Amino acid sequence: MRVSAGSDHAGLKLKGLLIEHLTSLGHEVVDLGTHSSESVDYPDFGAAVGESVCSGETDLGVCVCGTGMGIAIAANKVHGVRAAVVHDVTTARLAREHNNANVICFGARIIGEAVATDALVVFLRSEFLGGRHLRRVEKIAALEHRQADDTTPDMKPLEGANK
Ligand code: RB5
Repeated sequence: MRVSAGSDHAGLKLKGLLIEHLTSLGHEVVDLGTHSSESVDYPDFGAAVGESVCSGETDLGVCVCGTGMGIAIAANKVHGVRAAVVHDVTTARLAREHNNANVICFGARIIGEAVATDALVVFLRSEFLGGRHLRRVEKIAALEHRQADDTTPDMKPLEGANK
């Protein structure tokens, strides 16, 4: 399988371990960065992984930041991405079986390395169950299309934001 991987500085070490493990299992990994411990912004890497998966360059993506949440939120802005923050093998399996998740996200400051590695392997082996879950995933795609057609600006200025 071809897998894209991306992280910010907080996820750098865990991303490296996960890439090593995937490679040892024979998967082909595209490492989209970050490549150093210098502080960076997680949306850049969530977007890169999401775009890589949705363009068909890879089959699935793996994202890591401190909590897994910021990078998942960013990846999910790419239409076609279904990124799930996963905490164990059960959430990894259900993210594929029920949500047809195509990007798995980990919080390096939250999850143990062994648990993350096992969860990733389960994620890659699990398959979407379809059926009633297909109807629900299709509704997510319909929502994306509706949003794409919507011409209202999608960001109001945040209260208290620096002008
Ligand atoms: C970086 O310090 C941290 O905010 C980031 O890795 C992530 O946890 C955000 O969701």
